[in-house]
Amino acid sequence: MCLFVEVNLINEPLVIFVCATTGQGDPPDNMKNFWSFIFRKHLPLTSLCQMDFAVLGLGDSSYAKFNFVAKKLYRRLRQLGGAALLPVCLGDDQHELGPDAAIDPWLHDLWEKVLGLHPVPVGLGVIPPGVPLPSKFALQFLQEAPETCSGVQHGVRTEPQSPPSERQPFLARMVTNRRVTGPSHFQDVRLIEFDITGSGINFAAGDVVLILPQNAASHVQQFCQALGLDPNQCFTLRPREPDVSCPERLPQPCSVRHLVSQYLDIASVPRRSFFELLACLSPHELERDKLLELSSAAGQEELSEYCSRPRRTALEVLCDFPHTAAAIPPDYLLDLIPQIRPRAFSIASSLLAHPSRLQILVAVVQYQTRLKEPRRGLCSSWLASLDPEQGPVQVPLWARSGGLTFPQTPDTPVIMVGPGTGVAPFRAAVQERVAQGRTENFLFFGCRQRDQDFYWEAEWKELEERGCLRLVTAFSRDQERKVYVQHRLRELGPLVWELLDHRGASFYLAGNAKYMPADVSEALTSIFQEEGGLSAPEAAAYLASLQRTLRFQTETWA
Ligand code: 2AM
Repeated sequence: MCLFVEVNLINEPLVIFVCATTGQGDPPDNMKNFWSFIFRKHLPLTSLCQMDFAVLGLGDSSYAKFNFVAKKLYRRLRQLGGAALLPVCLGDDQHELGPDAAIDPWLHDLWEKVLGLHPVPVGLGVIPPGVPLPSKFALQFLQEAPETCSGVQHGVRTEPQSPPSERQPFLARMVTNRRVTGPSHFQDVRLIEFDITGSGINFAAGDVVLILPQNAASHVQQFCQALGLDPNQCFTLRPREPDVSCPERLPQPCSVRHLVSQYLDIASVPRRSFFELLACLSPHELERDKLLELSSAAGQEELSEYCSRPRRTALEVLCDFPHTAAAIPPDYLLDLIPQIRPRAFSIASSLLAHPSRLQILVAVVQYQTRLKEPRRGLCSSWLASLDPEQGPVQVPLWARSGGLTFPQTPDTPVIMVGPGTGVAPFRAAVQERVAQGRTENFLFFGCRQRDQDFYWEAEWKELEERGCLRLVTAFSRDQERKVYVQHRLRELGPLVWELLDHRGASFYLAGNAKYMPADVSEALTSIFQEEGGLSAPEAAAYLASLQRTLRFQTETWA
């Protein structure tokens, strides 16, 4: 399938690439096949000489490898003979006017170029501004709710034939949901355990679980009220175009409650296109004028001030424009509001230690902006709200291989650096390796205070006593001076060098993507210089070679 797509791609006269950069300069998962295809060594340098192209990068300038994927792709496409219509566009989540700000002028130029090269054929109608495009789907309400439409969960089976996936998640029973941070810690971190008996889910250390979250019941109710929808009503969905198919995750027929609670991401911060479409659909003059202003090029500062900076949600915007919200034709719901995406969590347990169980460590995301209501992460807040002690709780999930793979050779030592919830994949690795009789495990763990956020303290202690683990801790706030994992690494420089250079150890790093990975890499290169006698460029090359040979792996998140 992929090869077919790629061979066709080579013959395309015009391709616009839109690509994000993730983690430490990596392509997103759904781009990985294409990435290895386009960087194949033997692709002739004339492969794309028939192609005009443009690359739109989606990135975040607070990361060192800002838009790395887009820049690298742009260079490669030119190297393969493609003709760039425009310089690469570097979209930036940190842009003070919001992510669209850098993209808008580029898109304007792109359309000019494209329409210059491929004018709209005479006679084909151009949709005038202010008129909405037809909706992608037609939604037909049913007079009576059929029986299959009444349940809360549709489209998911509890006993799938093949391993669960996004198309067919497994409804796992939540067994435990326990706060593991102390009462005075700023963050609510949960250890959550699922029973996956009979799911066919298999995983190894380093894998991740994907969870499909749901909107809070109160938000579902507010949304239905604002739009005048009856949550109990059922509908069927039909695509208007032959090349569009209905979302696989939605059952047919489907209840409005199911659509709103499990599919529409009403808690996401809407983009400019949301305001554009709303303006087209609004019957109310005052509201329409405001929406037009917010979606115009001149209104970007105001839009950012109103929406992206304070992280206002789609639901809150709809409540601010009540006449417009009440007039939204249900056909447009799926055009207006993006679908809820699954969230990935590093699996924190091993099947060898906890058969039929899967554990994760979840930091509940909550922060304040200038809006009165605190902002909450959709998935972590939903998970935290579920209480298995009050009655059965089921969560749609599936597993996928993650970014970390651990050595299969029995004698290879592993060094793991995981401050905060970054320790989660290493708990799985330590459990798995200990069960396999591999005892060369070195774990650097950092947290704020020993008595507030030292996850699994008793477990680590027991493993140390059994000689299966060496744990090194950095409690950043238990003394005046900040102590981080990279300080401990430096203190143990001779051991780190010995393990890496003489014993062939593999090195792993997981946790917050912002500063920690760069700081730890810097500590490593200085160890290579001090202990290995390497020059600065040699130390950088040494680290790069560890990365190339997968002896240095990272899993980071924002
Ligand atoms: P701090 O919050 O006291 O600054 C888990 O979040 C641990 O990682 C905390 O102890 C936190 O310390 C620490 N941390 C923060 N920034 C870090 C960095 N750049 N490198 C390593 N650890 C860091």
